[in-house]
Amino acid sequence: MQNNEEVLLKVDHLCQYFKMGASELKAVDDVSFDIKKGEVFGLVGESGCGKTTTGRSIIKIYDITSGDIFFKGVRIGAGKRSYINKIKSAREEYGKKIAEEKDPSKKKQLAEELKGIISEQRNNIKAAKFDQKNCDKEYSAKLVEEIKAKYLSQIEKAEGEEKQKLLKEYKNELRKAKNTKLVTQIQMIFQDPIASLDPRMTVREIISEGLIIQGERDKAVIDEKVYEMLELVGLVREHASRYPHEFSGGQRQRIGVARSIIMKPELIIADEPVSALDVSIQAQVINLLNDLREKFGLTILFIAHDLSVVKYFSDRIGVMYFGKMVELASSDELFKNPLHPYTKSLLSAIPLPDPEYEKQRKRIVYNPLESHDYSTFKPEMHEVAPGHFVYCSEPELEKYRLEIK
Ligand SMILES: Nc1ncnc2c1ncn2[C@@H]1O[C@H](COP(=O)(O)OP(=O)(O)OP(=O)(O)O)[C@@H](O)[C@H]1O
Ligand SMILES: [Mg+2]
Repeated sequence: MQNNEEVLLKVDHLCQYFKMGASELKAVDDVSFDIKKGEVFGLVGESGCGKTTTGRSIIKIYDITSGDIFFKGVRIGAGKRSYINKIKSAREEYGKKIAEEKDPSKKKQLAEELKGIISEQRNNIKAAKFDQKNCDKEYSAKLVEEIKAKYLSQIEKAEGEEKQKLLKEYKNELRKAKNTKLVTQIQMIFQDPIASLDPRMTVREIISEGLIIQGERDKAVIDEKVYEMLELVGLVREHASRYPHEFSGGQRQRIGVARSIIMKPELIIADEPVSALDVSIQAQVINLLNDLREKFGLTILFIAHDLSVVKYFSDRIGVMYFGKMVELASSDELFKNPLHPYTKSLLSAIPLPDPEYEKQRKRIVYNPLESHDYSTFKPEMHEVAPGHFVYCSEPELEKYRLEIK
């Protein structure tokens, strides 16, 4: 369970839109959540609701459209759209005001105010661009300084062979520090264990790729690490020289896990790591992730499309629907007091090994048009009970508050 309250990852108003001809597809639309150190956060929702896009935005595969992503307090992702929109709306609002204003001195004052807003937002855009691009460089610069501080004085004091040895170590460490990116502390395990492993690479090459990119050149060190990882995930060192097609689905996913943990990540994004596997193998892979979590104090963002998989594994769960987060609560709370009709429909889809229950179980179908009337009151995220958030309008909030009592 949760170790402490330290926030490892903070996703703040994340939007990721894709261009679709003249319009845009809002794959992720204003999603916020945070993950505390040591926690497993489950992200659930039907196919196409934006789960993978959320994960890929976090590991910086995209320049996100809008919002911020913080990892260990450092802004690693920053979108510009919200600032651009603020400039647009300020121009419209002030344009009108200025046109209506008769008093020339007040007119001038309004124009000054508008100028101030625009320049502030432009600075925000600049800072967002900078962070999106440079957060890794700054992190690596910090590591380089740490390596220098550790070695330089030692090297100065040392002599002869000792000095040569330290120098060699120093150079090796320095090269690695220069190549290290902050985002490598976030590793993703992919949905499809077949497509995500290059068929032309041996298991050794697949698992060690990250280390080599980081600058590790010592073959003995690389081999030793690969063997260690293979054994950790329940494979054997003889597997290192084989190719992905020689393995079963469950074994391939273990290779995927080994590839991600060799980088000693703090956060793992496991994107439906078991949905392509047989039920009996699913449990094995989940148990493996659970073991690793305890061993390394890993924090995990676990993506799944059905609630039954994440139920026992997650501390908290976020439910997504069509790019929006619609409900967020602790696992227990979500199963005890589901409020959003979409969450209820997901829960109604879980079969239980209880014949009586199964006889009565009715699939609830979620139809947003029938379930909500957002013509007057617009929906937003509301905290219905401590730590339990629902995307709803004010009248719905009242209803949910009564329901939870
Ligand atoms: N690179 C892209 N370009 C354009 N559209 C994309 C891109 N990636 C995803 N999409 C679209 O964004 C939406 C969300 O996709 P995403 O893969 O995040 O869903 P998902 O929740 O992971 O679904 P699944 O459970 O099927 O994996 C979908 O409509 C998808 O078609
Ligand atoms: Mg997906």
